[in-house]
Amino acid sequence: MLEAIEISSMPSSDASDQLFARIAEDISNKGYSINPSVLPVELGSALLHHVLDMNEDKFDPAGIGRDQQLMLNEFVRSDEICWITGESDAGKAWLQWTNQMQVYLNRTLFLGLFSFESHFAHYARGDYYKRHLDAFKGEANRVLTLVVYLNPEWGIEDGGELVLFSDEHDQSGIKVTPLMGTVVVFLSEDFPHEVLAANRDRYSIAGWFRVNTSTAERVDPPA
Ligand code: OGA
Ligand code: MN
Repeated sequence: MLEAIEISSMPSSDASDQLFARIAEDISNKGYSINPSVLPVELGSALLHHVLDMNEDKFDPAGIGRDQQLMLNEFVRSDEICWITGESDAGKAWLQWTNQMQVYLNRTLFLGLFSFESHFAHYARGDYYKRHLDAFKGEANRVLTLVVYLNPEWGIEDGGELVLFSDEHDQSGIKVTPLMGTVVVFLSEDFPHEVLAANRDRYSIAGWFRVNTSTAERVDPPA
């Protein structure tokens, strides 16, 4: 049984504030931020236990695009996902932590981040996500991508790295090992990225901070 995670048992917000400050600085300097071993340890382990306890039937094959445009395309990605709604204690603690990050980034970077959506992702052996962008210029709703990894051990031979490219011409990119505690943030419109085929079960959370694109004619709430 998982114990409830209280906000008081989360690490002092000093530690998180230091991390958020580093992320804000990186984002304004270079547009991305890669931080190994920084996810609050209790939060990471609660999320991992939750994802491992969840029934396989809570996961759906991941699609491309949102809502009506959602398409399954196994050529592009083959992972499975489960949206985080905050019904579980682990999900609640995650949404609290990401909200603290949102408030901090809005205060320091004036991004006007308005909402957050996120899902667990499970890549089974052989699963991948081909090179893609999380948002397209003009649509301008997903502003910042946040990815955290939940795998306590991960070796070179396990594959499954995130590769972050600096622009559409970059072919080499920066490889990120999907090891427990690593927190990656980048500008959703600016950094193409891919997930190399994983050689064993790989768990991560991908999330997006969004600006409000609702108008009187079209309501566009978070997923
Ligand atoms: C995504 C994504 C990266 C990862 O879900 O859009 O790029 O490393 N995930 O899981
Ligand atoms: Mn992506």
